[in-house]
Amino acid sequence: MVIPLNNLTKKQLRGMASGAETETATEFTSRVTQQLVGGIAGIGLAMGMETGLFDVMISMGENKKTSQEIADLAGMKERYVREWLGYMAAANITNFDPNEGKFWLPSHRSNIMELKGLVMTLPILYGGFFKVAECFRKDGPTGVPFEEYHKLDDLIHLTQGRFCQDQLIQEFLPSMPQVHRCLETGIHVLDLGCGEGTATITMARRFFKSRFYGLDISQPALRTARYKAAEMGLSNVEFIKADISLMPTDWTDKFDYLFVHFVLHDLSYPTKALREMHRVLKPGGTLSVIEINAYSNLEDNLERQDRKSIVLAYSYSLVTCLPISLCPGDGAGLGGLWGREEAQKALEQAKFQVVSVTEACNDGVHLMCVKPMA
Ligand SMILES: C[S@@+](CC[C@H](N)C(=O)[O-])C[C@H]1O[C@@H](n2cnc3c(N)ncnc32)[C@H](O)[C@@H]1O
Repeated sequence: MVIPLNNLTKKQLRGMASGAETETATEFTSRVTQQLVGGIAGIGLAMGMETGLFDVMISMGENKKTSQEIADLAGMKERYVREWLGYMAAANITNFDPNEGKFWLPSHRSNIMELKGLVMTLPILYGGFFKVAECFRKDGPTGVPFEEYHKLDDLIHLTQGRFCQDQLIQEFLPSMPQVHRCLETGIHVLDLGCGEGTATITMARRFFKSRFYGLDISQPALRTARYKAAEMGLSNVEFIKADISLMPTDWTDKFDYLFVHFVLHDLSYPTKALREMHRVLKPGGTLSVIEINAYSNLEDNLERQDRKSIVLAYSYSLVTCLPISLCPGDGAGLGGLWGREEAQKALEQAKFQVVSVTEACNDGVHLMCVKPMA
């Protein structure tokens, strides 16, 4: 899935705006076709991951097998498996030996499942596509409720899972030595918009003297979170169903550390939510807001070397973040790329002091804030 995207300098952008276009019509068609075919091949990758066919092919090592043998191994219908194998061979994912009519996955591609978070984005976002298209119409719906996105919780869990597995404990929390020390001795932590609780549970397992609260509005996500915590026998974590814009009244000044990972831009009422976050954080307490690593100015994003992550972020934003936030009709609709400058302004307006703005792992930007002592 190669997406040939070049970053543009401000000079090139301005040149294009004044009509100095260098790309021909043929080059344009060829570039867009390449991008689309890459994306369409991605649907086949997603099918192989969802059905478990890639797991089967990985388990074969480099042993070549016919579609019937692969279908038998997978316990699936041969006709579907054969179609998928052809699709994947055409996309240069699996290899095909025409002499023997057999397929295999070369060993250097056996790490394919590492791409699952990215790959599954396609079908899951596609699920909301037609509903979102309706929202564009002046007389169309204002947005799409979160519950209507089939398997969105799973996708969120997949992407957050990697961050939790590789970076949260190892790099992210140690980057705040003061918070890290307090987590060791025992504090109250609130994970806002915790989803299936991956981060809450990861922290609770590591810092057993601290007490963790995961809050979310999605009952199915919380059900999974509670199940996972119970399975691990964790007694220092609980999950609460509530709206961030309206948290329990007895939580004033309760928490030492608030963790808000890819949530703020999704909210319909972020100003109310920030007011509530300020209320529940103790004076002197710390707030970590992690948002998509984007600038508020489109031109600054177009200049970046990592343009692919901006395209990806827009795809999420257009098809999920924006319609979810706009759903109630008077929602803020910040969009996933509202950017670090706007986020900082909103935090300061809510009376947080922004201590640092740093690039975080996971294509995120970390705005670390404190609530000043009264
Ligand atoms: C993009 S997900 C992020 C989940 C998790 N923090 C992560 O990084 O994987 C946004 C989460 O915010 C939750 N959410 C959205 N609006 C909310 C609200 N008003 N109050 C509480 N949770 C909310 C959603 O249910 C969803 O689980």
